[in-house]
Amino acid sequence: MDLNTIKTRTENIKNEMMKRAEGLLKEAGEARDKAEDALKAITEQGRQVLLNLAEDKPMALIDLAAQQKRIEGGVKKSFDRIMAHGHYIMGPEVAELEKQLSEYVGVKNTISCSSGTDALSLALMAMGVKAGDAVFTSAFTFFATAETIALVGATPIFVDVDPVTFNMDIDKLEEAVKETKKNTKLNLKAIVTVSLFGLVMDYDAVRKVADKYGMKVIEDAAQSFGASHNGRKSGTFGDVGCTSFFPAKPLGCYGDGGAVFTDDDELAAVMRSLRVHGQGTDKYDNVRIGLNARIDTVQAGILLEKLKIFDDEMERRQQVAAIYAEGLKEYVDVPQIPEGYVSAFAQYTIKLRNGERERLTGFLKASGIPTAVYYRAPLPLLGAFKYLGLKAEDYPVSVALSQSVLSIPMHPYLDDKDFARIFKAFESFYKG
Ligand SMILES: Cc1ncc(COP(=O)(O)O)c(C=O)c1O
Repeated sequence: MDLNTIKTRTENIKNEMMKRAEGLLKEAGEARDKAEDALKAITEQGRQVLLNLAEDKPMALIDLAAQQKRIEGGVKKSFDRIMAHGHYIMGPEVAELEKQLSEYVGVKNTISCSSGTDALSLALMAMGVKAGDAVFTSAFTFFATAETIALVGATPIFVDVDPVTFNMDIDKLEEAVKETKKNTKLNLKAIVTVSLFGLVMDYDAVRKVADKYGMKVIEDAAQSFGASHNGRKSGTFGDVGCTSFFPAKPLGCYGDGGAVFTDDDELAAVMRSLRVHGQGTDKYDNVRIGLNARIDTVQAGILLEKLKIFDDEMERRQQVAAIYAEGLKEYVDVPQIPEGYVSAFAQYTIKLRNGERERLTGFLKASGIPTAVYYRAPLPLLGAFKYLGLKAEDYPVSVALSQSVLSIPMHPYLDDKDFARIFKAFESFYKG
């Protein structure tokens, strides 16, 4: 082999070696990049796991965000559809909602409206309730129940409640009716019952009193849409049932909304007229003084989406209540639901035994558990009803409840982690 050939071969071998070395270096670089990426991913995953472990997810009293995630697609589609047809007032969604609500509740007429408060006003106005009338109602409820009675000019006569169900005490109702008949000149006009925290009351008993004294019955079902007694749905127990679609209610929209339910076609026709300025045959034929109390089409569209998951949510509320009752009964008085009744559990309201409310709420707050007090004062003692001159000693149960009730988180999206945190907090508070 001559020298030149040796040189050329050596050169080729060198080039070949260089190429291989370069290839190996490239592969090594790629492998290093991959290893770095993998490490980064593992570190990020680890970080996330640690974050999740350390995370103290803020708990909501009513978790609308979790529900919103579930219905987001449907709500957006509904919104797009309404934007496209443009019937923002009394659009087709309103008629569809009324049809579906009538089917759900099991009633002939549903008239949707702008709030639970307006639902009560529509019912009272349609029944012709006015100055000089006595309307009997619960002493322990939300202000709007009695506010609307006073707004139409009538006199609210407050009745103390039952300490277990929180609803009007039927014996005290009859006592109040007899006393009003004997001692005042007021007309015995109507009874507005309240299905408080989602539990309807014994309507056979209410009806007996109403019939005996020739009074109408209105069910304030603002908190009890979805509840039932022996299969009969809340909203159907009075001559008129009134509900609210305030966002936090068992069936809530994303604003204000409400509905009235009735089998009485005449009352239904009057309430339909009252809802739109007392309209007659058309919008500009006003035959009575009314309200502007329509629900928005957009809210009706949202409610139609929420109705699709409502039964499932109601079932979960029952499970949540059962888990709570088991976990909390040794520390506090948990809600008692009588045989045959299904509560909508708008609130899960416990009764504390030893005047420890302020300390317990502070302790729960520090543990990330929100609470609320419904209600801090019985209605007869509120400033707005001062003109009636009522005394606390006439409402002993309502007064005691206003000092001992506490509502804790209640919604269908509470999970095991939430229950664990709540039960641990109660255990630490009561067992130290
Ligand atoms: C018992 C009761 N009645 C009436 C209402 C009034 O409903 P809205 O807020 O929709 O006017 C409410 C709502 O909070 C309520 O809880």
